Amino acid sequence: MSFRWLPASLLLSAVLLLMTALPNLPGAWREALIAVSLGGILLALYFARRIHARCNLMHQQITDLNEQLESLNLELTRQQRRRLALIDGMPIPLLICDEDAMLRHANRVALEWFGFRHMTGKSLLALTFCYDLYLLLLKAARRQSTVSAEINFSFPKERHTEATIWYLGETDSHHLFAIALIDKSELLRLEQVRRDFVANVSHEFRTPLASIRSLAETIHDDPEMPHPTRQRFLNLIVQEADRLTRIADDLLTLSRAESMQPTKEVFELSPLIQQAVQEMEAEAQRHQVILHTELQPELKLLANRDQILQVVLNLLSNAIRYNKPEGSVTVRTYVQDLQAVIEVADTGVGIPSEALPRIFERFYRVDKTRSREGGGTGLGLAIVKHIVESHGGSVEVESEYRVGSTFRVKLPVYEETQNS
Ligand SMILES: Nc1ncnc2c1ncn2[C@@H]1O[C@H](COP(=O)(O)OP(=O)(O)O)[C@@H](O)[C@H]1O
Ligand SMILES: [Mg+2]
Repeated sequence: MSFRWLPASLLLSAVLLLMTALPNLPGAWREALIAVSLGGILLALYFARRIHARCNLMHQQITDLNEQLESLNLELTRQQRRRLALIDGMPIPLLICDEDAMLRHANRVALEWFGFRHMTGKSLLALTFCYDLYLLLLKAARRQSTVSAEINFSFPKERHTEATIWYLGETDSHHLFAIALIDKSELLRLEQVRRDFVANVSHEFRTPLASIRSLAETIHDDPEMPHPTRQRFLNLIVQEADRLTRIADDLLTLSRAESMQPTKEVFELSPLIQQAVQEMEAEAQRHQVILHTELQPELKLLANRDQILQVVLNLLSNAIRYNKPEGSVTVRTYVQDLQAVIEVADTGVGIPSEALPRIFERFYRVDKTRSREGGGTGLGLAIVKHIVESHGGSVEVESEYRVGSTFRVKLPVYEETQNS
């Protein structure tokens, strides 16, 4: 309102002042006109002040708005940074592409996966060498919706993934899409290991079960069978049943070692080794093998005593069974690089070098018949490896075919100072 009244009051005052200049205007009128025009000027001054106050207020409002805009911009930048940090911190590879399959952003894991330092601004196809992923992106771009499929990469290494692509919206007149890759290679490998394991277990159980069945049938079908033959068959049935029990026991030991964290106690190693040697003495005599020990006294471990005994028994039993008559087995203990080492060395048949990497696998045997005849289940070394590794240790083997083998178990040594 003041904007209109200011010029009006000024105009009125000017007109009235001009009118005072009329030649034959009575004196009283002139004075009255001067008085009214002065009033008009005062009014104009009043409106001018109001306009000034309004201008000041508007200036203040504009400054406030500018400040708000700046803080909004700052918040937007912060949000963008947070979003990028969120994407970068994701433990799976995430790529952001436009509809022309040009890369706009790749998170840290994606850069590691594909072995690039920078990926932005380049074509998805040229970076991943994966045509299937490119086709999936085109499909997502056509539908502007979420699509997913199993995608296999061969670059930079073989990977089986589940890829999901979803629409993010439009920026700078480009449609953006996010690509997430979930690596299923390890899962598929474990699935295969599980399938192989089940197949192996079934196979291991089937053989003795088939023998028991056929032996029992023979006895059943032949009531006239001579007593000694019947006795021999019954003994065979008992042996096969024992074998089944041994496999079941070893499977149980293995699954316990895998699933449970060992409950640990402090104990001295030498008495445990002596106990194991004593338990295996009869078996050693049967195989005409001599057992020696070279033990470092007062060597202590913080470990599960029963499980470590099991480890030594399994290694000793192998060293005796895969030995030659008149052969020997030496158990040594010593400390090396803060590790307690249990060494079981034999003068036995040895292990061919091509079989060495496989002997810790479940059910793997170099000589199946020899292992079975000696009551082996093919699980002894798998049990050793699991127990040792669950104690934070390691197991290694050196062997020369037909000369002998040395198994070395390394476990963290227990220092008295650990207690304080
Ligand atoms: N001390 C050793 N000397 C020679 N071969 C060995 C020795 N220890 C293990 N092996 C080989 O490794 C295989 C796997 O051992 P293990 O897991 O204990 O199963 P097994 O029940 O057959 O003894 C054995 O079948 C044998 O072929
Ligand atoms: Mg064994």
